[in-house]
Amino acid sequence: METTGPTRVSARDAARIAAVVVAPTLAAGVILRRRGGMALAERYAVDRRAIGLLAELRRRYGPGPLRADVAGRHFALVLRPDDAVRVLDATPDPYTPATREKRASLEQFQPHGVLVSRGPERAARRALNESALETGNQLHSLAPRMVRVVREESGLLLREVAADAGELGWDDFTAAWDRTVRRVTLGDGARDDTALTAMLGRLRAAANWSVAAPRRTGLRERFEQRLGAHVERAEAGSLAAALGATPAGPGLDPAGQVPHWLFAFDAAGIAAFRALALLATHTAQDAQVRNEMAVTDLTEPHLMPYTRACVLESVRLWPTTPFLLREAVRDTDWGGGTLPTGTEFLIYTPLFHRDDALPYADRFTPEIWLDGTAQDTAGLFPFSAGPGACPGEDLVLFLTSTLLAALVERHTYLPDRPGRLRPDRPLPRTLDHFGLRFAVLPSR
Ligand code: HEM
Repeated sequence: METTGPTRVSARDAARIAAVVVAPTLAAGVILRRRGGMALAERYAVDRRAIGLLAELRRRYGPGPLRADVAGRHFALVLRPDDAVRVLDATPDPYTPATREKRASLEQFQPHGVLVSRGPERAARRALNESALETGNQLHSLAPRMVRVVREESGLLLREVAADAGELGWDDFTAAWDRTVRRVTLGDGARDDTALTAMLGRLRAAANWSVAAPRRTGLRERFEQRLGAHVERAEAGSLAAALGATPAGPGLDPAGQVPHWLFAFDAAGIAAFRALALLATHTAQDAQVRNEMAVTDLTEPHLMPYTRACVLESVRLWPTTPFLLREAVRDTDWGGGTLPTGTEFLIYTPLFHRDDALPYADRFTPEIWLDGTAQDTAGLFPFSAGPGACPGEDLVLFLTSTLLAALVERHTYLPDRPGRLRPDRPLPRTLDHFGLRFAVLPSR
């Protein structure tokens, strides 16, 4: 496709983008979702408004990137899927994921994480992540233990729910998921280290404020010490052991990669909980999941393609990373124009995932991930694309599909507000996961 040059937006439109697209995303919390922010975001349908504004600007200005200079910085808002792919494919040079804002914010808890690294350090840390997370392997070699852990913790959760009024809400779900994540990542010895997760939560809350954040150096040191002890234990069967088994190199800081993992597993929990809500309201898809489970030995690792596709749909419909950011490390040519060094590209994925031109834009359609439709549609990338794409995708899809199977195996879920997710209506473009609640009934 021919490249269209960047167009400069009027000051008024730049202000509208800031108010309608950027500010509400910040209010909901980029690094740690805020409960109040998410509820307001759903009530005011912020993603519907943001997508509407960007579609309007695309009609008025044309499909090329929109340029705006704000406070001495150059921004380019990408409006076309092919342009997004072009930017993402050119990671990390000339377009680095380690943007100024990300570095300022993520330094609070992962100063050596791959996402905020540049140059040779980035390459080495990326390789380390791919090796321990087994990027590209749909069934991680530690899968047998992972299945056991997921099933033990979800079984315990369901027993707690049964003993307590038969209701499942976000707080109980996330406590069980956090225990699962600590065991998978750091081993059984970290199962009950809720203080570790709480410390990370406080650092992430500070990170929400990016450059404006106060540095919480003391807290970070205490967190790193605590985490370091777990990583050093390298408990057999944990990701920490997988990390220890990879060859060491200068500047690698293996333990320094783990805060990102712990933080990113939150998104996986959110995606799984939303997928549970979709299944609870969509009987045809729920039946397909149960059919898949009927022919699978759930106590062993198995790829469950349909259940996996349900999680992919959850993150297509409600991306947990709605903004993909890149910063140009040098001047780059674009459709006959030049974008200067330091230009920050903003890719707002809901614009593409929910494009009105897609017949399934606002519907729950796991099939698109199985029949080649999603693969052939530029712009559907809930786990990003190119050399900076999520190295944890396969692991996430394996763990969350295993979790969903364990939850629905013997239980049925009745959401308290099913009207929000009715299959005969367009699905909302913002879904507050904190507000999801189910009555849980034994199936047989
Ligand atoms: C639903 C769950 C998740 C989603 C939707 C997700 C999505 C993403 C996205 C969109 C990016 C790229 C951001 C960009 O292009 O700027 C990313 C990066 C990354 N993710 Fe995930 N992620 C998830 C969970 C995880 C988990 C559980 C891990 C580790 C265990 C992980 C590890 C990483 C790492 C290390 C990066 C940085 C990659 C780099 O800079 O090269 N993610 N993720």
